[in-house]
Amino acid sequence: MMPALVHAFLGDITRLPLDAIVNAANPSLLGGGGVDGAIHRAAGPELTAECRLLGGCKTGEAKLTKGYRLPARYVIHTVGPVWRDGRHGEPELLASCYRRSLEVASEHGIRSIAFPGISTGIYDYPVELAAKVAVDAVLSFLVKSDSLEEIVFCCFSAPDLAVYESLLASERS
Ligand code: AR6
Repeated sequence: MMPALVHAFLGDITRLPLDAIVNAANPSLLGGGGVDGAIHRAAGPELTAECRLLGGCKTGEAKLTKGYRLPARYVIHTVGPVWRDGRHGEPELLASCYRRSLEVASEHGIRSIAFPGISTGIYDYPVELAAKVAVDAVLSFLVKSDSLEEIVFCCFSAPDLAVYESLLASERS
């Protein structure tokens, strides 16, 4: 078994032709701003219709839908924590988002997946701290599971990309 490819990428997650993309949703799962708004717009109204049947999602949990008009086959919706000061369970909840998304992916035979920077936009989680949690959670999952072949950290700005590249480089050295 080849080790999974884990890399950072700069661009719009809605354009990625992977098995799944992850959505940084809110507990209603009915859409919103940021990457959530972009994913719902690109997937079309069928996505919101399926989300309406899911009964929402708790912070740190993940739920799967089809991707509809997206190039990705599935969307895994997860709800990140709102950043307060880091002492209200934010790191554990954020790690849970990554772990639960990968578990759901694995249960559905998904081999390639892209994550946005969950919680680092409207939910205000500092990107350096969030990226560390994200990389650690993904690498710990890969130690236990060999179902994933490619994991992409999809960044939406060059500074965010630099944060992920430097973390991944230090993991490799
Ligand atoms: N592709 C990749 N990344 C993106 C894209 C895109 N098309 N658009 C934004 N980002 P945010 P949150 C990045 O605010 O902080 C919504 O209203 C963005 O630059 O989308 O988890 C939900 O409904 C940032 O790095 O999610 C919730 O109410 C990252 O995606 C709330 O926002 C996450 O930013 C969730 O807030």
